[in-house]
Amino acid sequence: MKKFLDLGLQPLANSYIEKKNLKFKEKKFRLIVGFDPKNFLVSILNTIPKEKMFNKNYPYKSSESKTMKKSFKIMSKRLKSKYRPNFVIEIGSNDGAFIKNFNRKNVVGVEPCKNLALITKRKKYKTYCEYWNSRLARKITKKRKADLIYSANTLSHIENFNEIFKAVDTSLSQKGILIIEDPSLLECLKNGAYDQFYCEHIYVFSTISLKKILDKYDMEIFDVENTKTHGGSNRYFIKKKKNKFYKINKNVNKEIKKEIKFGLNKFSTYKKFEKKVKLSKIRLLEIFSKIKKKKLKIIGYGATAKSCTVLNFCGIGKEYIDFFYDTTSFKINKFLPGTKIYIKKYRKLKKNDAHFVYLGAWNFKEEIFKKEKDFIKKGGKFITHVPVPKIY
Ligand code: TYD
Repeated sequence: MKKFLDLGLQPLANSYIEKKNLKFKEKKFRLIVGFDPKNFLVSILNTIPKEKMFNKNYPYKSSESKTMKKSFKIMSKRLKSKYRPNFVIEIGSNDGAFIKNFNRKNVVGVEPCKNLALITKRKKYKTYCEYWNSRLARKITKKRKADLIYSANTLSHIENFNEIFKAVDTSLSQKGILIIEDPSLLECLKNGAYDQFYCEHIYVFSTISLKKILDKYDMEIFDVENTKTHGGSNRYFIKKKKNKFYKINKNVNKEIKKEIKFGLNKFSTYKKFEKKVKLSKIRLLEIFSKIKKKKLKIIGYGATAKSCTVLNFCGIGKEYIDFFYDTTSFKINKFLPGTKIYIKKYRKLKKNDAHFVYLGAWNFKEEIFKKEKDFIKKGGKFITHVPVPKIY
């Protein structure tokens, strides 16, 4: 593993702090990102025990975003008509945004965060509040194997590949497929989106790295699609090599060529990215400092895990951002990890809320700009660091 990016001391990204706990010292870890030249995998070097991140206090709910809800709805409709799966497993079912589009009899969710698993259990969806592993896979598929295993933004959070893919192998039916969706390394690098790296994102996958990993488990990618979610993701369609029901789409080779052309297989590309990130920090700080010198007000929009990396890496705290607006019930009235910036319940932006709004949820830019068109019309401005620090 070759190190290429040091994002400094970071708190746990989704550990929003309650007021009564502000006095306690937070646990921090060194966020260093590396590249493995053998399998082209990009990952963070110091990992955090999963129980510390995925527990009853997990704040992120897929259904609270219109974009995600819509994307899961469209996706499940497509999957139902194309693959007609008799039995579906979702790894990381969150609050059910995906599984709720399926018949209760044909789908189960796996979700280790108790607060989330409870939501789908209450709605009578079979949910296993456990971490995905071979033992659980055997239990779930005792009577019937899965035609479809779906997992969005979850596999990149699980450190142990061996467990993931062994369990997938156990669970798939003869024609069964695994579909995973995770942020794309190519988009991350192109967008200067270094905030895709935080404690939960152990890996940021590329097609070339997944191909190498899957080889070990006699699996292969048979299709890949680029999606806009989470600031640019890839949806990989995976099957066992012996599954001859599906041909390998030429998209796979196209994607591989694209990634090689960009240099995702070379360490020098990542060193270049490191330089870009360092410059991004300088530019972003310049923007914030200039605004503050004029005594203008900045607030934040979308207290994302991603913004935790940016704010802590750049050293942007309360002296710059008065507070964040966020729609997630669990984050409201809490404080951002590290910077301890207050999070307020979202309400539509008004002209005199602030002169500038830092876009923490830049991956929902379109949805947000649409919602805040009045604020924008009246001269309200947004700050972003993606693809380069600038003011909209
Ligand atoms: P997300 O994109 O999942 O980021 P991360 O994985 O980095 O945490 O989270 C988006 C956050 O932004 C979530 O807390 C909800 C918030 N948000 C708003 O407050 N308003 C909005 O209009 C949207 C789309 C999101």
